[in-house]
Amino acid sequence: MSGVQVALVGGTGIGERLLQCAQEAVHVPTSFGLMQARVLRWGAAEALLVARHGGGHRVPPHSVNYRAMAEGLVRLGVRHCLASAAVGSLRPEWGPGTLVVCSDFLELSGRAVSRFERSVAHTDFSRPFDPKGRAALLESAAAAGEEVQDGGVYVCANGPRYETPAEIAQYRRIGGDLVGMTAGSEAVAMREAGIGYACLAVVTNAASGVAGAPLSHDEVVQEMERSGERAVTVLKGAVERLSGSD
Ligand code: HPA
Repeated sequence: MSGVQVALVGGTGIGERLLQCAQEAVHVPTSFGLMQARVLRWGAAEALLVARHGGGHRVPPHSVNYRAMAEGLVRLGVRHCLASAAVGSLRPEWGPGTLVVCSDFLELSGRAVSRFERSVAHTDFSRPFDPKGRAALLESAAAAGEEVQDGGVYVCANGPRYETPAEIAQYRRIGGDLVGMTAGSEAVAMREAGIGYACLAVVTNAASGVAGAPLSHDEVVQEMERSGERAVTVLKGAVERLSGSD
């Protein structure tokens, strides 16, 4: 056990930014593979930082070891996990730079992320993102004067390609607000492991067909360079609120 109760999964543009100020490495072997984290000390608050795509952004969304991440954090005694996620927006009114505290998800990636593949267990997902984590993000944003959307449905696609306009139109019809390639899988792995998981989505682009422009990873990275610091401010305040909460 590390004594740190809060984990922070930094996605595109945030993981690497935070790695620069992180300290000692923590490696935990699990039955799913190795979990690697670093300790992040933020004033009085501490978090275990997991850079989702690794240093140098080398791990694509479909190759992230979501189960090892969750299992490793459980073994370290982590109770709460906050994450950032770069997303495309299905709503024209939520333009690049919009921050969204996600409230639900559609996991359409088809990935094998359940820890219960060889045993029978059915986990409740009626509160898909942890209410405490969501409240911490919302309170932190309010305290910092950062505007955030309270609620949005995250559609998790497998990628690594971006979606077609018809796929996005279909996601919108079935209730999606945002599209990304990671947070749905991560939410499943974390919740099945008993960790309260909440996600701050950062809109980096209008999803395919919403604004008519072609999509590129460079555009996503550039928007994260512009908006990343606001997301970090919100995440930091939320870590402080969750530290020692229970
Ligand atoms: N689609 C999927 N994942 C993404 C997008 C997108 O438009 N933008 C950032 N991550």
